[in-house]
Amino acid sequence: MEIKIFNSAAEASNFAALELLRQIEGKLDSNLGVATGRTMDAIYHKFISHAREKTLDMNKVSAFAVDEYIGLADESANSYKAYLDLHLFNQLNFDSGKVYIPNVGLQNIDQACLDYEASIKNAGGIDFQLLGIGINGHIGLNEPGSSIDSRTRVVALTSSTRNSNKMVFSNENVPLTAITIGIGTILEASRCVMVATGLSKSDIVQKVVNGDINSKVPATAIKQHPNAILILDKESAKLI
Ligand code: GLP
Repeated sequence: MEIKIFNSAAEASNFAALELLRQIEGKLDSNLGVATGRTMDAIYHKFISHAREKTLDMNKVSAFAVDEYIGLADESANSYKAYLDLHLFNQLNFDSGKVYIPNVGLQNIDQACLDYEASIKNAGGIDFQLLGIGINGHIGLNEPGSSIDSRTRVVALTSSTRNSNKMVFSNENVPLTAITIGIGTILEASRCVMVATGLSKSDIVQKVVNGDINSKVPATAIKQHPNAILILDKESAKLI
């Protein structure tokens, strides 16, 4: 796994945004795996401004959300769908028919997970997987203990994740469960770009970088990917 450390979060985010830009410029019908969370805000913001400047055509791109909460109110502003619409999809000319979010509304939730895996497969697999890291080491919502070959499934959220995500929630409690793509699903992407910025990530980044691959820190799984990069700022890299 390549590691790049930048002086500031802004520079790290810009580098990740440029990686995404290059991916799409090189393959207009790229299949993207898209993450959510505060780390992604700046990346999408930079990406959108580069994409607009270059009048990049997003119409042939397919995008797969990494995860979605189960049990939020219909049209909830706290959903990852709402996040991605606001920060990414509605900002550029994405084709809504090529935007995929796990169907948490389906009564047969296990079927929804199988369907999601099938849509990724039918599209030809993920070319470019963007990831953040939770403070407990989760990727997507693969919480500690998730196996390296896990697939899209229903997961129970840890209190660490619920507390951390509570800060960006309004008018609703953070759900107890979600659908996430699996670590095995993530590892099948052609390229993995994982980003962590800020002091709050320094502990977990130290464990990811210096520790062995282990299911207690799911983000360590990315170390076995043949084409992965970890993008950090000085603060998140402080304890390495
Ligand atoms: C959420 C998302 C993850 C993300 C993580 C980090 O739980 N489901 O995909 O990596 O948060 O979030 P933040 O960037 O806000 O620290």
